[in-house]
Amino acid sequence: MSIQHPSFGRIDSDRIIFFDTTLRDGEQSPGFSMNLDEKLRMAQALADLGVDVIEAGFPVASEGDFESVRQIAESIRGPVICGLARASVKDIEAAGRAVEKAERRRIHQFISTSDLHMKYKLRMEREQVLELIAMGTQTARRFTDDVEWSAEDGSRTDPDFLCRCVEVAIRNGATTINIPDTVGYATPEDMRRIFAMVRERVPGADQVILSTHNHNDLGLAVANTLAAVEGGARQIECTINGIGERAGNAALEETVMALRTRADAYPYRNGIETTRLLSVSRLLANITSFDVQPNKAIVGRNAFAHESGIHQDGMLKNAQTYEIMTPESVGWSKSSLVLGKHSGRAAFRDKLATLGYADLDDVTINQAFQRFKDLADSKKIVFDADVVALVDDETRDHERVRFVALDLMAGSTRRAEATLTLNVDGNETTATREGNGPVDAAFNAVHALFPHEATLALYSVGAITEGSDAQARTTVRLEEAGKLVDGQGADADTVVSAVRAYVHALNKLIAKRTRREPEALSA
Ligand code: KIV
Ligand code: ZN
Repeated sequence: MSIQHPSFGRIDSDRIIFFDTTLRDGEQSPGFSMNLDEKLRMAQALADLGVDVIEAGFPVASEGDFESVRQIAESIRGPVICGLARASVKDIEAAGRAVEKAERRRIHQFISTSDLHMKYKLRMEREQVLELIAMGTQTARRFTDDVEWSAEDGSRTDPDFLCRCVEVAIRNGATTINIPDTVGYATPEDMRRIFAMVRERVPGADQVILSTHNHNDLGLAVANTLAAVEGGARQIECTINGIGERAGNAALEETVMALRTRADAYPYRNGIETTRLLSVSRLLANITSFDVQPNKAIVGRNAFAHESGIHQDGMLKNAQTYEIMTPESVGWSKSSLVLGKHSGRAAFRDKLATLGYADLDDVTINQAFQRFKDLADSKKIVFDADVVALVDDETRDHERVRFVALDLMAGSTRRAEATLTLNVDGNETTATREGNGPVDAAFNAVHALFPHEATLALYSVGAITEGSDAQARTTVRLEEAGKLVDGQGADADTVVSAVRAYVHALNKLIAKRTRREPEALSA
């Protein structure tokens, strides 16, 4: 069985479309906002990963959102570029203009269909919603033949009404029908049944792509996604690291590896290059300063670590005793011990590639290499985790303020004093300040060099590896006018690590000041 699709041409029923919404559903969640450059980097990484559709944003939400969708549409080649729009002409026109230059473009139309949402959020009757579905899909078709329609709160929608809505959307030109579990309430069996019902009852459902979009409020997002596929969904909406509204969306890396590892149960094809999963995950964590938890499936630091003696013994005899997929298949390298102080640039570059940093530019590699050399001079063994922390630190967007140097005088018999040099807007300046301990003194010096109103909301330090010569990884959270940003830094010197994290957070705050947050996504 196959269908004809405006963007994909003839598409067989065993092909799963990966629709990534990291830059829309993910980006709109608190703390995950990205600037234009960061979104472009993420979009390129998603294209390299092989996703079929990138939902690049919600163009009507702000000028910044419009511009980032427009630039992604203009510069990213490969995936279909999609813009989200409510059922309003203004939204649809903004989305249509934003994706105009894409190689292949999609408008994603949505409106709530559950009784609860229609009554309290939309304050509309069913007939009005049906009219808006017809209007929205028809209007979107004026801009592109590839139109997706979504039933917001679809999993809690009355089944008969849901079928009527889907029928109206298809009749008026939708080519993908998405039925989201917007609030993460459904069970896998609910999802399987809903898709099977739509396929069976709605005329034309066999000529469109059915899509699933699951939130993770009960931790069921990936399970619900797989169940929807069993019911007939062939497009999966998901995000890198599972970011998204509230508890997030189905994680792309988990979903694709479940499909691949259990191909016996899910005999479908997709276009994802799984060896890139780790590097895309790291890029996102790095851009947003939100690390994934250590035990996160696929991309967490412990996902392939075997600690207990029994497990290690089994692994040595046959890796399949405790590994259901190979670490290499998702981008992890084999060894955990890396380079020493005699390692050269080529070995360093090679190591970066095996750690999932294949696409760094030469300037970043050179700067990271210099820092690696400094670290290797002071530390006996440099582990993979050290290199990752160092490169993450170097690739962060230190736009206006950059750390240059720090000297400290501290101890139990004197008041701490920090002499700090920062590069602010291209000019190096130095200040010396005292404080209640070296970190306080260093942060006071940051204040002196770059005055600001933000307050310190969180300061936490951890060791990246073991031993007293381990690098420290610091997180600094700043708050200004209700806005929170997290910055991260790493260095063998704990105070330098703290200042790097502070500077990273400051840069994010500066970027945030000039950006309006997207409006709530309500129709
Ligand atoms: O969760 C949801 O319902 C959404 C829609 C806009 C698709 O994100
Ligand atoms: Zn969503």
